[in-house]
Parts: sequence; structure tokens; C-alpha cells
Amino acid sequence: MVDHHSHGHRHHVQLKKGVNMIHVDEENGCVSIRRSRPKLLFFLTFCSLLSCCLLLVPSFFSFPTSTFSLIYSYEGEDETLLNSKVPLCASVSNGTICCDRSSIRSDICIMKGDIRTNSSSFSVFLYTDHVSSDLVTRKQEKIKPYTRKWEPSTMATIDELTLISENTNASTIENRHNCDVNHNVPAVFFSTGGFTGNVYHEFNDGLIPLYITSQKYNKKVVFVILEYHDWWVMKYGDVVSRLSDYEPIDFNGDNRTHCFSEAIVGLRIHDELAINSTLMEDNKTIEDFHDVLDKAYWPRIQGIKQEEPMEAVDPEKPKLVIISRNGSRAVTNQELLVKMAEKIGFSVEVLWPDKTTELPKIYRSLNSSDVMIGVHGAAMTHFLFMKPGSVFIQVVPLGTTWAAETYYGAPAKKLGLRYIGYEILPQESSLYEEYDHNDVVLTDPDSVNDRGWEFTKKIYLDRQRVKLNLARFRKHLVRSHLYVMAKKNQSQTRAQT
Ligand SMILES: *[C@@H]1O[C@H](CO)[C@@H](O)[C@H](O)[C@H]1NC(C)=O
Ligand SMILES: *[C@@H]1O[C@H](CO)[C@@H](O)[C@H](O)[C@H]1NC(C)=O
Ligand SMILES: *[C@@H]1O[C@H](CO)[C@@H](O)[C@H](O)[C@H]1NC(C)=O
Ligand SMILES: *[C@@H]1O[C@H](CO)[C@@H](O)[C@H](O)[C@H]1NC(C)=O
Ligand SMILES: *[C@@H]1O[C@H](CO)[C@@H](O)[C@H](O)[C@H]1NC(C)=O
Ligand SMILES: *[C@@H]1O[C@H](CO)[C@@H](O)[C@H](O)[C@H]1NC(C)=O
Ligand SMILES: *[C@@H]1O[C@H](CO)[C@@H](O)[C@H](O)[C@H]1NC(C)=O
Ligand SMILES: *[C@@H]1O[C@H](CO)[C@@H](O)[C@H](O)[C@H]1NC(C)=O
Ligand SMILES: *[C@@H]1O[C@H](CO)[C@@H](O)[C@H](O)[C@H]1NC(C)=O
Repeated sequence: MVDHHSHGHRHHVQLKKGVNMIHVDEENGCVSIRRSRPKLLFFLTFCSLLSCCLLLVPSFFSFPTSTFSLIYSYEGEDETLLNSKVPLCASVSNGTICCDRSSIRSDICIMKGDIRTNSSSFSVFLYTDHVSSDLVTRKQEKIKPYTRKWEPSTMATIDELTLISENTNASTIENRHNCDVNHNVPAVFFSTGGFTGNVYHEFNDGLIPLYITSQKYNKKVVFVILEYHDWWVMKYGDVVSRLSDYEPIDFNGDNRTHCFSEAIVGLRIHDELAINSTLMEDNKTIEDFHDVLDKAYWPRIQGIKQEEPMEAVDPEKPKLVIISRNGSRAVTNQELLVKMAEKIGFSVEVLWPDKTTELPKIYRSLNSSDVMIGVHGAAMTHFLFMKPGSVFIQVVPLGTTWAAETYYGAPAKKLGLRYIGYEILPQESSLYEEYDHNDVVLTDPDSVNDRGWEFTKKIYLDRQRVKLNLARFRKHLVRSHLYVMAKKNQSQTRAQT
């Protein structure tokens, strides 16, 4: 596993360029986005996964960060260009390869027929036997099966597969290589190469797209993993085994010829940590993905319950979980926050997740909680472990408003959470002590973000801590407590009648 300790929670940020007006309603603490144009047009500057690139590709060290940045325009909520539910390449006839390259986030190719892998040449063959002599006998497609197509710095680290369609006839048929392993279910090829131990990327780039692409096979599917990492299979094996009945294949490490009659190369992805049910064949939603996690973690949680019984908590009290951080973006008065929350009537659990924390443990804590609080960062991905209907309060440090809403706020609402984006005031930021009070760093973070990713990262992400104004924060907690109590009341009333 790549050592990602100091980068684990570091998160890429896409900078907005003044198109969206983010409107914060102080009264109910909800963030809503006003669109100043009917069609969203984001100009995004990227340097995501910078830390991992540095680790994976040492030569990148010598590049200034700006060379990673790509400016592109992004039209529409979703990159799937079709309005119809039926994606391109939905019906592929036998003996053909169809590639859908219409999405800005990922390419996907579908092959049907006599499919044989050749890992030593990074290729997958499709043998056809059209008896037409004037047919082009060899066609090929190249694809990197990873979901950050728009991010060259990441894609540069991903292995490329060549898909070769080869016409064979009676005289050339013996050139086909022999099958070592015959599979009677389809294959889904994808890469775990871009991952770095960052839980946001693991779910956003990997697991959710894997679910989107493979769930329709009802576990009758084999995963063929490029850049296979043992740590990934260890960490996500319980989820993977809810999606496939078969052992995943390590493509690079297994030089046997695997034969299939259908293969999907690459993963479909819809949006940040989301599933657009209108694009799913059987209307699956992010809640269905949540159910997969629940089933995946259930067995391990039974074991954990034996090992570490949870402290007895008052079952009458709503439970609040604080996902805490050390160092940058830590809450410096967290102990007072805990005391205040307990006074309001919550039972409070504080978690310090890091890349080595077993996910079922975090799932267990969040699955039994009513409210989750955390400061913007990759660990907010754990909102996916919350039960729909519960409350998620994201503390939004200066300069992270757009990212907090895009990556976690909006997706959390899609899961059915009650979401509160708590945007801190300059006085609640450690930067208030460091900068002149009229400095744009405090007064106009958007303009600082517009200067480039390096500024966002250096100023707002890497060295900003939060000292909550507890009086201001309190009303959100009180409201959340009322909401949870009312909900509990309701379900009790329903249970009694
Ligand atoms: C889901 O996809 C459809 C079809 O592309 C699109 O019209 C719709 O806006 C998408 N919904 C969301 C919430 O992104
Ligand atoms: C698809 O084509 C392969 C060889 O090209 C052939 O062996 C197989 O029977 C075909 N399958 C179907 C369903 O037609
Ligand atoms: C598979 O790849 C190896 C290495 O490039 C090559 O020698 C071999 O001919 C390939 N097999 C086929 C059937 O193309
Ligand atoms: C078979 O294919 C090879 C090349 O792919 C071609 O040269 C040859 O003429 C073909 N033979 C027949 C009988 O079509
Ligand atoms: C496959 O790998 C094994 C062990 O790494 C090696 O012994 C064998 O010769 C390889 N086979 C081919 C066809 O390259
Ligand atoms: C999916 O939703 C559509 C429209 O709401 C409905 O017509 C269809 O029957 C649903 N499909 C499934 C498998 O539930
Ligand atoms: C999560 O909580 C629900 C009840 O609220 C329970 O039915 C479910 O089994 C729990 N999931 C796990 C994995 O423990
Ligand atoms: C963060 O600090 C707390 C309190 O000092 C400690 O218990 C925890 O292990 C630390 N967590 C990490 C991930 O360093
Ligand atoms: C819950 O219900 C009880 C009576 O059933 C009521 O007295 C109480 O005010 C309710 N609490 C909330 C938060 O709705």
C-alpha cells in the first residue's frame, strides 16, 4: 500500500469561476445553489490526487503543480450526453467491440463473442469469423479503464489496454491462443491503479462506478482488475463479494489466457458519490448502494460486536458522531463541542478515522447514529454509511464552500440525509489570527481560489483550523436534536398503532 498517511484526507478541489452563486440561508443552515445560467458551465482547475501522483510517479516531483492543471468546460449536471436511459453500446452484437467515449469522466468498451486475454501484451482479443475477405481483419481500440478521464495527471499513471478485434478464418484459426480458463459469465475490467488510500477516491472513482456497471449481472460477473493491489482487495473484499460471486482476477499478475463471451472494459460513472437512477436499468439508487454496504459489513460487524461491545448508551438519547481530524482542518475546541452536544441531549461518540481504520467499525458507529458532524475533507465520504433520514452537518472552512457542496453536500441530499452546510465565519478560522482582517484570504476566498489550486491547497486546505463559534453552532445542534426526537416519536407512534 502506498503510504498516504500525511495525504490521506487531503482532497482535491475543483475551483469554480463565479458562475454559481452559493446562497447560504442562515436561518435553516441549508445551502442552496442559485444558477445564474440555465446550463451549468464550470471551468474547473484540477490537481487532484497530486499527492498520490507524487508517490506513484517520482518524476512528477520535478514538475510545478501548474502543469497538472487542466482547464476544461463542463456542460450539464451529468456528463452522459444522451437524454435517453439507454446508453451508447447498450446492445452490442456478437463479434463486435463498441466503445462509448461520450462521457467526460470515463470511457467504456463492450465486447461480445470469442474473447481472450493476453496480459503480457496488455491486450484483450476478440476473434471473429466473418468470411468476408475484404473486411478489415484487425481493428483495435485503446482504453484506460479508470473514471478520471478528464484528469491527465491521474490517467498518466493508469495502464492502457488494447482491445483487438481479429478476423480469423480456416487458415488463421490456429493463431488464436488457447484458453487456460473458460468463464461462463461476463467480465468487467477496471483499474485500481489511481487509488491511494483516500476513501473519497475509493468510493467515488471505484466502488460506486463498479456498482453502477456490474449490479445488473446479479453477481454473475468476474472482475478483472488492472493494477491489482492486495490492500484494495483486502479493504474492499467484503463489498466486492456482494457484487460478484467470483474471485477477482489480477490481470497483470496472471498470465493465463482467460476466455469470456462478454466483457465490459471500464466503468460507468454518473456524478460525485451518486447514482442517477434514471440511467440505471432497474432504477437502482444510491440507497441501494447503501444497502449493499450494509449487507457487506454485516458479518464483520457481528464479529466486532463480540470483540468490542459498544459502551452502553442511553437508548432514549439521539446519538451524534463526530468525525475528527488532527492537524489541518481540526476543530480546536472540539472538547467544548462535545460537552455542549451532551448538554443538549445527545450521546456523543468521537471517531478518528485514518486509512487503517476498518470500515465496518466506522459503519457500525454511523449506522447506529442520528447525526454526523465533520469538517470538510475526504473523511466526509463516510456520510454514505449513514441511514437515510439522518442528519449530516458539514463544517465548511473558508475557501471550501464550492467543494464541500459539490462533493459531499449535494450527494448527501441525494442519499436522503438532512444536510446542513455550516460555513464558518472568518473569526472561526485560524487564518483570522494570521491575516489582516481586510485581507482577501478572509474577505473573498473565491478570488483566492481563482488564482489556482496551489493557493487553495496551501492556504485553505493545509493549514486552516477551525474554532467553532459555539453559540452560532448550537442552534443547528438544537434543531437537529428536535428533528431526531420528533422522528423517533413518529416511528414510536407508528409502531404503537
Ligand atoms: C439523470 O440523468 C438524466 C438523463 O441523462 C438527466 O436528465 C437528469 O438530469 C439526471 N439527474 C440528475 C439528478 O443528475
Ligand atoms: C458469438 O460468436 C462466437 C465466435 O465468433 C461463437 O462461437 C458464438 O457461438 C457466438 N454466440 C452467439 C450467441 O451467437
Ligand atoms: C500475447 O502477447 C505476447 C507478448 O507480447 C506475444 O508474444 C504473443 O504473441 C501474444 N499472443 C497473441 C495470441 O497475440
Ligand atoms: C484468411 O485470412 C488471412 C489474413 O487474415 C488472409 O490472408 C487469407 O486470404 C484468408 N483466407 C481465406 C480463405 O479467406
Ligand atoms: C506465466 O508466468 C509463469 C510464472 O510467472 C511462468 O512460469 C510462465 O512461463 C508464464 N507463461 C507464459 C505463457 O508467459
Ligand atoms: C423504473 O422506473 C420506470 C419509470 O418510473 C418504470 O416504468 C419501470 O417499471 C421501473 N423499472 C423497474 C425495474 O422498477
Ligand atoms: C444498521 O442498522 C439497522 C437498524 O437500524 C439494522 O437493521 C442493520 O442490520 C444495521 N446494519 C449492520 C451492518 O449492522
Ligand atoms: C489524533 O489525536 C487524537 C487525540 O490526541 C488521538 O487520539 C488520535 O489517535 C489522533 N489520530 C490520528 C489519526 O492521528
Ligand atoms: C414526543 O411525544 C411526546 C408524547 O407522545 C410529546 O410529549 C413530546 O413533546 C414529543 N416530542 C417531540 C420532540 O416531538
